[in-house]
Amino acid sequence: MAMSLKRPQLEENLTAEKRHKIKRKKAPWWHSDIIYQVYPRSFCDSSGDGTGDLKGIASKADYLKELGVGTVWLSPIFSSPMADFGYDVANFTAIEPLFGTMDDFDALRAALHDRGLRLVLDFVPNHSSDEHEWFVKSRRKEEPYADYYIWADPKGFDEEGQPIPPNNWLSVFRGPAWTWAEERQQFYFHQFLAKQPDLNFRNQRVRDEMKNILKFWLDKGIDGFRIDAIKHLFEVADLSQDEPVAKNSGVEDPMDYGCLSHPFTVNQPETFEVVKEWRDIMDQYPEKLMMVEMWDRDIGEVMKYYGSDSVPLADFPFNFLLIDSFRNRSDLSGAALKDALDLWMDNMPEGKWPNWVLGNHDNGRVGSRFGEDLIDALNMLVLLLPGTPVTYYGEEIGMVDATVSWEETQDPQGRHYGREKYLEHSRDPARTPMQWDSSAFAGFTKGKSTWLPVNKNYKTLNVQAQSRADTSHLKIYKELARLRKREPFAGGRTAYPVVTREAFSVLRYLEGYESYLLVMNTSEEELEVDLHQHANMELPPTAEVVLRSVTDTAEATVPGSEVNLSELKLVAGEGLLLRFAEF
Ligand code: GLC
Repeated sequence: MAMSLKRPQLEENLTAEKRHKIKRKKAPWWHSDIIYQVYPRSFCDSSGDGTGDLKGIASKADYLKELGVGTVWLSPIFSSPMADFGYDVANFTAIEPLFGTMDDFDALRAALHDRGLRLVLDFVPNHSSDEHEWFVKSRRKEEPYADYYIWADPKGFDEEGQPIPPNNWLSVFRGPAWTWAEERQQFYFHQFLAKQPDLNFRNQRVRDEMKNILKFWLDKGIDGFRIDAIKHLFEVADLSQDEPVAKNSGVEDPMDYGCLSHPFTVNQPETFEVVKEWRDIMDQYPEKLMMVEMWDRDIGEVMKYYGSDSVPLADFPFNFLLIDSFRNRSDLSGAALKDALDLWMDNMPEGKWPNWVLGNHDNGRVGSRFGEDLIDALNMLVLLLPGTPVTYYGEEIGMVDATVSWEETQDPQGRHYGREKYLEHSRDPARTPMQWDSSAFAGFTKGKSTWLPVNKNYKTLNVQAQSRADTSHLKIYKELARLRKREPFAGGRTAYPVVTREAFSVLRYLEGYESYLLVMNTSEEELEVDLHQHANMELPPTAEVVLRSVTDTAEATVPGSEVNLSELKLVAGEGLLLRFAEF
C-alpha cells in the first residue's frame, strides 16, 4: 500500500498472516466482543408485572446472538429493596425475586453460553442496602458486624440538641453523606443514598466477605464483572477533615455534590490494593473480564485502574470520554472527536486494551445527547475502532430519551432535586422499556402497566419495524458487528486521514486486505468535502460505499456505488463507510 504512514520495523517485517496469527493467539475474548449492557428492569418482562426479569432476558437470547454482540453485562440482579434500582444490594448472593430465582439465573447463563455468548455481572462493593443483614446487625453493634460500615460520633449537638455530622462530606445524590442512626447513637456514612451505607474496607472481614462473593459467582460460571463506583471504595481514616469548596464549579446549591472537591472521599491509594486482591481471585479462573466504573475528570486517575505489566488490575476502566467530552452537540467537531480518542490512547499504559462507551443507565441516550442524525455514525465509530465497544440496550435501534413526568419519576437522583429540577438529574428517560414491537407497551410486557412509561415513539421505533425495513439503525448495527470480526478491523491498523471542524475520518487497514474508510459529518448541515484536499496521507481517487446512515437517501451513495473522494457529499451527522483495494 502506498500510504505515507510509518509503521514500526518489527511489524513491517511480518507477513499479514503471521501478524494476524500472533494477535489471535494472544488476544483474550473481550478484544473481539461487543459488550451489551442490559438494564434488567427494562429489557423484557416475562411475568407481566411491568418490570423486566431474567426469564425475559433469556427469551431474547436469540435476538442478542443475531445482533452480533458477544457479551451480556447485566446491571444488578441481586436481592434489593430497589431504592437505587438494584444498586442497593440486600444480599449479594441471592437473586432479587422481582427478577426471578437462582434457577432462572442458571437457565439464563446456560441460554447465553449455549449460543456462545458470555455473561458479566455487576459487582457493587462500595455499599450495601441498609436492609442487608450486615447493616441491621452493625446498627445494633452486634459482632462481628459492628465495624462493617463507617460509623462516627457527632461533632457536637446544635441548639436544638440535634447531632451534628462529623464533617461536611456530601452524597453524590445530593445532601449530607451522613445519616444519624438512633439505635446506635452514631452517624453512618453513605456516598450515595442513606439507604446505601458504605462498607468499611479497612475491616479485613469485609474484604473477605467481598472476595467470597466474587468466588460465589465465578464458581457459578460467569465470565466476569463490571465493578461499580470503584473510586468511592475508601475514604480517609481521619474523619475530622472537611472537604474544600470546589473552585469555579458554578454550582450554587450547597447540598450539591459538585460544590465540593473530594480529596478525602475518592481515589484513595488503598483502593488499588483491594482491586489487586480481586484481580488475583479472578486470575484463579481462566480468562475472566474485569471492567471498572471510574468517572473522573483526571485521565491519570482513570488510567491507574489498568495497573501495570507487573501489577495488572482491571482489564479496563470504562472510557467515558465520548460522554464527558460532548455534553452538547455544539461540543462535537471532527477535531474534538480526534482529541477525545487521542486522550485515551495517548494516556493508556503500553500493552493495555482500549474501550469505547457511548452511553449507559446513568446518562441520556446517544440520540438525545448528540442528535438523532448521529446515531449510525457513532455506532460505526465505536464498533469499528480497535477496542471493546460497550452498547447500552436499545442503542442499536436508536432509542431516545423518553418524557417522564414528575409523578412518574422513580430515580432517587432525580427525586432528590424536587419537581422543579428533577429533569436535569433524573436518569429515568434513558431507562424506559426496550421497544420490541408496535403492540401494547412495545411488546415489553403482557401486563397492564410498566415501571417507567414506554417512549411514545415505540409504534415506529422498535426492533420488529427495524428488522423489516430495508435500512435501519438495527440493520446497520448488525452489519457493523459482523464486519468488526474480520480484517482489517480485528487486527489492522488505524489512521485519521481527514480531521476538520465538520469532518472526521477513520481508516482501518492491513496489508493484504481491503481498506475501510469511515467518514463522518459531525455538523448539523449537509457537507461536501474534498478528502484529498484535507488528507494527511495519500488516498485513492474513488471508493465503494459499504454502509451509510439511514438519513442518507441519495442515489450516489447507495451501497455498492463508487464515490469520488474529491467531492463527497454527506447529510448532517452522517457516517459513510467506504472500502477500497490496496493502491
Ligand atoms: C454507579 C451506578 C449508578 C449507581 C451508583 C451507586 O455509578 O452506575 O447507577 O446509582 O453507582 O451504586
